[in-house]
Amino acid sequence: MTDPHSNWESFDARIRAAKTADELAAIEQELFGRKAGAMTLALKSLHDVPDAERKAAAATLNTWKRTFDELIQLRRKELASPSDETLKSADRVDVTLELPQRERGHLHLIPEFIREVEEVFGRLGFDVAAGPEVETEEFNFNLLNIPRDHPARDAQDTFWLKTSKKDMTATSLPLQGERLSEGNVGGRKGLHDRDRKNPEDRLLLRTQTSPMQIRYMQSHKPPLRVIAPGKVYRKDSDATHSPMFHQFEGLMIGEDVTLANMKAVMIEAIRTLVSPTAEFRFRTGFFPFVEPGLEVDMRWQGDDAASREGKWLEVVGCGMVHPNVLKNCGIDPKKFQGFAFGFGVERMIMIKHQIPDLRAFFQGDLRFLRQF
Ligand code: DAH
Repeated sequence: MTDPHSNWESFDARIRAAKTADELAAIEQELFGRKAGAMTLALKSLHDVPDAERKAAAATLNTWKRTFDELIQLRRKELASPSDETLKSADRVDVTLELPQRERGHLHLIPEFIREVEEVFGRLGFDVAAGPEVETEEFNFNLLNIPRDHPARDAQDTFWLKTSKKDMTATSLPLQGERLSEGNVGGRKGLHDRDRKNPEDRLLLRTQTSPMQIRYMQSHKPPLRVIAPGKVYRKDSDATHSPMFHQFEGLMIGEDVTLANMKAVMIEAIRTLVSPTAEFRFRTGFFPFVEPGLEVDMRWQGDDAASREGKWLEVVGCGMVHPNVLKNCGIDPKKFQGFAFGFGVERMIMIKHQIPDLRAFFQGDLRFLRQF
């Protein structure tokens, strides 16, 4: 007879350690096989046990038998469901894993601000227009009451373009604000021959958005309200000047538009676009295309204030449109009057966000750009 205590423990250990379903089935067969299973034989051999011991022996065997049944069932289940280890190698895609968020870009500070400008002035009833960055001397200076020998030209150190007559029609730079086709008065086509009536008229990169006043007034009848945002160019470069920067021009012409209206519009725009508590001041300034002319300075805010000259930064030029300019556009200055203004976009943003150096806008440093 098989010793009932012989190797039950080792069966127990082997079942727990079985690595595969096949291995487990083999152990089960060894234990419960109909002919030669160890447990089958042990149970059969109970007949030979003396009466006095049989009961106890049967009880022990039955306990083992139940234990093995349960253990085998349990182990079978475990082997059927894959372990973490198997999962890690067999199924590498864990759909429940939290992934880091995809990085999303955003508009650069400047176009973002210009959109706000369009919205704020849109609410005040202003249209939006875009025009060419390559301009004629006529639009950029002459028609704005700045003739060739006028000292005001010195204030705007100009990039002149070397051109021949045939270049004229080919001058078509892509324009900002093309989506605003309704107000486009230089148009997608850029400059045209008809823009240069005078063969002496030279080409330049516009030094200001003010030529848009002329373009708009020549193609629209008053009363009118318009803003024209865009790039302008001057030979300048330091912490508050860049050879390319952004302005937006504004123009409001009607029968009774006054300086008081202008101040109201300026104040509303500055408070909405920069901050309701922005500090600013109006003072007289000279621009040949307005009379009287004013400048708006804004108080520099932030740590660097001490290093900023006088703590005021000139941000806006404005005034009542000069009668000569109205005449140049075929508008009767006895019947119509109004104001014009030109805002420096970068400078407004510098004050809004306390950015000490304007050149940061154009260096493409992500550490700077991501802050906004
Ligand atoms: N165009 C001037 C400049 O860039 C700014 C300016 C001044 C615009 C007065 C205006 C104005 O419309 O009325 O310096």
